[in-house]
Amino acid sequence: MKKQEIIDILSDSTKNDWLFKKADSVRHNFVGDEVHLRGLIEFSNICKRQCKYCGLRSSNKEVERYRLLEDEIFSLAKNGVQLGYRTIVLQSGEDDYFDTDKMCRIISKIKTLDVALTLSIGEKTFDEYKAFKKAGANRYLLRIETTDKNLYADMHPNAKIENRFNCLYDLKSLGYETGTGCLVGLPNQTVESLAEDILFFKDLDADMVGIGPFIPHEHTPLKNTDKGDFWLALKVMSLTRLNLPNINIPATTAMETLNPNGRIIALNSGANVVMPNLTSTEYRAKYEIYPGKICINDQPEKCRSCIEAKIKSIGRTISKDYGFRKR
Ligand code: 5AD
Ligand code: FES
Repeated sequence: MKKQEIIDILSDSTKNDWLFKKADSVRHNFVGDEVHLRGLIEFSNICKRQCKYCGLRSSNKEVERYRLLEDEIFSLAKNGVQLGYRTIVLQSGEDDYFDTDKMCRIISKIKTLDVALTLSIGEKTFDEYKAFKKAGANRYLLRIETTDKNLYADMHPNAKIENRFNCLYDLKSLGYETGTGCLVGLPNQTVESLAEDILFFKDLDADMVGIGPFIPHEHTPLKNTDKGDFWLALKVMSLTRLNLPNINIPATTAMETLNPNGRIIALNSGANVVMPNLTSTEYRAKYEIYPGKICINDQPEKCRSCIEAKIKSIGRTISKDYGFRKR
């Protein structure tokens, strides 16, 4: 699509139902009715960065910080494999304690379990990405968050958007399945810039794109800002499906936080992936990127059976394979 076409659809609420149905049928035709599950392990909430929207930003002194031991991470992954997950996602804040050696050790150990492995640990150097790949990592998630240069600079003190772009192109060139995405509803974000975000996903040829509404966190500078609009986030997701028909698109947890049926609505509007939480209950609440995170008191077993029932209730099935991008 051309930029103007995307802007027109984003600005016109009479086109919503058409868009959601269209994205659902493109999803069906290109990636089928299977839903891929990815088991998420939040292994450290320690972060050196200052993203203004994120509850884990380093200057938030209200969060109790934690780091899991290597053995704990491995046993959560093993539990995930026993529950039937074929992909494990390792996510953390930007925590330098987990250096290249430690990460490579964790990656190669988990790779003995016959699973696909995704990393979501932030901006690293080319050589670090290369080492993780060599250790066995298959995929990497790094949202661009916004392609609007001024908004990016405002939201990310001491960070450079050029570095973020470079990281994403590095990941692509190293052969990772590369995931990116954006927040919808950041202060002063425009529909023009959301259209640019979608064009960027296309330019990168992203293999996965996660879209979520912004949810203000009490202990951040954006505490008094309005939350993002669920339906606008859904529209950005559906438009992403139309423009990148064969990629993997998660129904994000942030969508479920704003709408009790958010993930099912997303699965019916273009999404084909869900990322249930594998972190143990004692740490879940502490990984508070935004408030109102779902399932914070549930065990991994519960999340697994709950999502399975929901997926089956809409006539979809759970994939038994690794869930790489369909080419
Ligand atoms: N609301 C919604 N999503 C958020 N993220 C960070 N902070 C928030 C928030 N307040 C998202 C970012 C990040 C992902 C892990 O969580 O897009 O990439
Ligand atoms: Fe941690 Fe944003 S505060 S990545």
